Amino acid sequence: MPTVHIEAKENEIAKRVLMPGDPNRARYIALKYLDDPKMVNALRGEFAFTGKYKGVAVTVFSSGMGIGSMGIYSYELFNNYNVDYIIRIGTAGSYLEDLKVYDLLLADSVYSKTYFDEEAGHENVEVINSSFDLNSTIMDTALIKNIKLRTGRVHTTEAFYTENKDYTPFIKLGCMAVEMETYALLYTAKKFMKHATALLTISDNLITHEEIDSKERERKLDEMIVLALESIIKK
Ligand code: HPA
Repeated sequence: MPTVHIEAKENEIAKRVLMPGDPNRARYIALKYLDDPKMVNALRGEFAFTGKYKGVAVTVFSSGMGIGSMGIYSYELFNNYNVDYIIRIGTAGSYLEDLKVYDLLLADSVYSKTYFDEEAGHENVEVINSSFDLNSTIMDTALIKNIKLRTGRVHTTEAFYTENKDYTPFIKLGCMAVEMETYALLYTAKKFMKHATALLTISDNLITHEEIDSKERERKLDEMIVLALESIIKK
C-alpha cells in the first residue's frame, strides 16, 4: 500500500524488483527492456516502472544514492509491497588491481562500518551475506550466457569523498570494491527474511585510477541489466 515515500498502489509493484541507483537508468531499463512499462512512482523523482520481461512481471525502482535512501525504499518494498526479490544493479570502485573497469562483480556479502544497524535495529552486524538462492541463479545464468562474473565481498561506505586513501583495512576484510547502497539492501532483506543481492559493474579502479568511457559504459551496463532481468524472471 502507498507509503510516505512510494505512491504506487499495492498491486502495481511486482514481486521481482531491479534497483539501479539512478532514476534515469530506471526509465532507460523500463523503456528498453520491459513490455507495457507503466510508471508507478515519481515521488521525489525516484522513478519506478512495472512491466513484463519475457512475460514475467518485473518492477524497476531507483533506490537513490546511499544507505539512507536504499534503506527507506527496500524497507517499504519488502514490508508494504510484499516484494520477494531485489537485485541492486549499480557501479562500484575496485580495490584490486586485477578487478578492472567493466568487470562484473556479484556481491556474495557486504561489509560496512556504518551505524545504520545500531540505529535501525540495535544490532551490531558488520557483515551480511547476499541471497545464496539469487546468487546461484545469477551465476548459472551468466554461465549459460557466457558472461564473465567475479563474486566477492563489497564494502558499503557512507562517504564518497574521502581523504583516506588507505584501503588496506577493507581489503584485509576481504572487500573487493566499494559502493554506497548494498549494506542497507542486505540488512533490510535479512530483517524481513527476503532475497536480495547486488550485481555491480566496476566503474573506476581506486588503485590504478582507471575509469570507464561513457560509450563502453553503456554497453557493459546493458550486459549487467540483461543478466539481472534473465535471472530474476527464473525466481
Ligand atoms: N566510492 C563509492 N562509491 C562508488 C565508487 C567509489 O569510488 N565508485 C562507484 N561507486
